[in-house]
Amino acid sequence: MRTLDDLEVEGKRVLVRVDFNVPLDRNQNITDDARIQAALPTLRELREKRARLLLAAHLGRPKDREPELSLRPAAERLSELLGEEVQLAPDLDHVPDGDVVMLENVRYEKGETKNDPDLAARYAALADVYVNDAFGAAHRAHASTEAVARLLPSAAGRLLEREVSTLRGILDDPERPLVAVVGGAKVTDKIGVLEAFLDRADAILIGGAMCFPFFKAQGHDIGDSLCEEEGVGPARELAGAEKIALPEDLVAGREFKADTERRELDGVDVPDGWMGLDVGADTAERYAGVIAEAGTVFWNGPMGAFELEPFAAGTRRVAEAIAAAPGTTVVGGGDSAAALAQFGLADKVDHLSTGGGASLELVEGKPLPGVEALS
Ligand code: 3PG
Ligand code: MG
Repeated sequence: MRTLDDLEVEGKRVLVRVDFNVPLDRNQNITDDARIQAALPTLRELREKRARLLLAAHLGRPKDREPELSLRPAAERLSELLGEEVQLAPDLDHVPDGDVVMLENVRYEKGETKNDPDLAARYAALADVYVNDAFGAAHRAHASTEAVARLLPSAAGRLLEREVSTLRGILDDPERPLVAVVGGAKVTDKIGVLEAFLDRADAILIGGAMCFPFFKAQGHDIGDSLCEEEGVGPARELAGAEKIALPEDLVAGREFKADTERRELDGVDVPDGWMGLDVGADTAERYAGVIAEAGTVFWNGPMGAFELEPFAAGTRRVAEAIAAAPGTTVVGGGDSAAALAQFGLADKVDHLSTGGGASLELVEGKPLPGVEALS
């Protein structure tokens, strides 16, 4: 993969694809600017090398030019962080000539998600060289992430470079033991990841609602717990693997809300009328112990409904263990990042990936179109 070291940028107009797909509240205020912050090293380096920037990014999944999905809030935040004016181009035919310009949401353009070569050519006509720093969107073969990279001299930005080398590094040459902590709701989203870690990790600790397909396959009662039916078959195959650790106790609630009746279960059988919403204290303690001994930890997916305080303890305990772990700690995925932020631990891990889907696909060993196009 080519990097900024391989690209001549001085005095040039550089098209930089960034992932500024940030969460906004109802009033279009950015609630977490981590992805904008993460792009700053590349943008500052390019400015120091006297490049002129043309930024391209997407926000959400607009069907047409939905004004709520304008990149104006991102342009304003970037301007504050960079200490330079960032001009927003309303469309590709009206691009101002400033030193730092941002295109409107690339998904306002019809051909963007189709990787349309004509659209890519219009992007390319606006710049001399191309830098992709949008790790979070690198698993998409879109006109601004893939096709355009083939039309201009191109390279990875510092964020993309670090994400790829860190995530590949934990698979290729991890400090051992390598421990994967995998949670979240759906086991089918994570099968590729679980299989990749079955080959390489020393232990895989499972939490979140994705436990229930495993427990169902093992004949446990799951009550009203969220259980992905299509996951039961794959979970049955995986459950036998010695490396896979499942919870031994759970916390259940009547309903998926904070002010519901709550109950700590001794085992993993969930009574009728209850749903498992967190791993229990013994499980969290056991997982924390394994994490403390690890040479490398990869975490993706919460242990329970951490957004509801009565069911946050399992995820908090695991997050704290990862934050305190002496080994190398790598966290991928939006929900795990949100959990770390909620517990004030985001800066206590070695690498907090800006990618959700992209980090999972990379760990699964799938080629990322945005990365392939730079090689
Ligand atoms: C993300 O937030 O996962 C990335 O920005 C990619 O967005 P997408 O899933 O809409 O392609
Ligand atoms: Mg996504």
